[in-house]
Amino acid sequence: MSEQQIYILAIESSCDDTSAAVICNGKILSNIVANQKIHAEYGGVVPELASRAHQQNIVPVVQQAILKANIDKKQLSAIAFTRGPGLMGSLLVGTSFAKSLALSLGIPLIDVNHMQGHVLAHFIDEENTPKPAFPFLCLTISGGHTQIVKVSNYFEMEVLGETIDDAVGEAFDKSAKILNLPYPGGPLIDKYAQLGNPKAYKFTKPKVNKMDFSFSGLKTAILYFIQKQEKENPNFVTENLNDICASIQDTIVSILLDKLKNAVKETGIKEVAIAGGVSANSEIRKQLKEGEFKYGWKTYIPKFEYTTDNAGMIAIAGYLKYLQNNYADASISAQARLKVHQTN
Ligand code: KG4
Ligand code: ZN
Repeated sequence: MSEQQIYILAIESSCDDTSAAVICNGKILSNIVANQKIHAEYGGVVPELASRAHQQNIVPVVQQAILKANIDKKQLSAIAFTRGPGLMGSLLVGTSFAKSLALSLGIPLIDVNHMQGHVLAHFIDEENTPKPAFPFLCLTISGGHTQIVKVSNYFEMEVLGETIDDAVGEAFDKSAKILNLPYPGGPLIDKYAQLGNPKAYKFTKPKVNKMDFSFSGLKTAILYFIQKQEKENPNFVTENLNDICASIQDTIVSILLDKLKNAVKETGIKEVAIAGGVSANSEIRKQLKEGEFKYGWKTYIPKFEYTTDNAGMIAIAGYLKYLQNNYADASISAQARLKVHQTN
């Protein structure tokens, strides 16, 4: 007998990307992401504009996802959506759309915790992509979050450490802003860093608890350093951009690696994964891979398209909940604040 085909449509709208994906038994058939360019003009995400753009994007994005998956809406088994955490106005668009679609098709609705989605992206069926074994550690690094999570099972997650101020993505973006680079600056710092000397300038690392992070001091240190240098040479940034970016990136990546090493030591777990938008960073990918022969870790790095906010990760989390018959009821509401261990 052939395996039953479970098709799930997932919707992600927690921040500034509108995304829809279709998954079939763990394999992604489509994963459409509409980025909102409008925020670049403001140097960061403007919540009111984000929610308006989600309203404009959601219908065409869902239509494209279904078209690309080459299925009919009637074949869907369930609708999954991001319940939180995120911007309330943005979450509401995805939540109400998912609710009405599930109701009109008469199929179950499945709520997904966005932070769990980032972690569970590792369980998407992809060729040549091994899945981590439980328990594993996941360093989730994005524009909104920085945390080390112990993952004991699909929906059993515990935060071992997290940032006490800025997220690491913010550290990249705010540093980039000081260097007059456009938002989001993380990918640009990565790009220029590849041509620079990571040891050209030294920035002190913060002193916080073993597995916690702090990035606000680093941003201030960079600001003062640049202001001081520009007093002597107004062209300091343009003349030394590659070296500055490489040094900033080196400091940030070394903070992340130090904390991961502490977590491995503390827990004895050597299965180490990364997730979230900042895991697209080439230096963190390289240094994590090096951890395999340096420290005997087994490392897991998701495919690029599943690192930044996308509905594919919501789809796999939704599919895993579907297998447990873990559905939401119609009264469910969006939650701007939701911790990684909260499943319902
Ligand atoms: O996960 P994500 O798409 O959205 C949030 O949930 O926040 O992460 C976006 C963040 C931004 O701060 C962006 O600058 C950063 O990820 N980012 C990078 C790179 N690509 C994206 N940071 C450093 N290097 C990169 N290559
Ligand atoms: Zn995210």
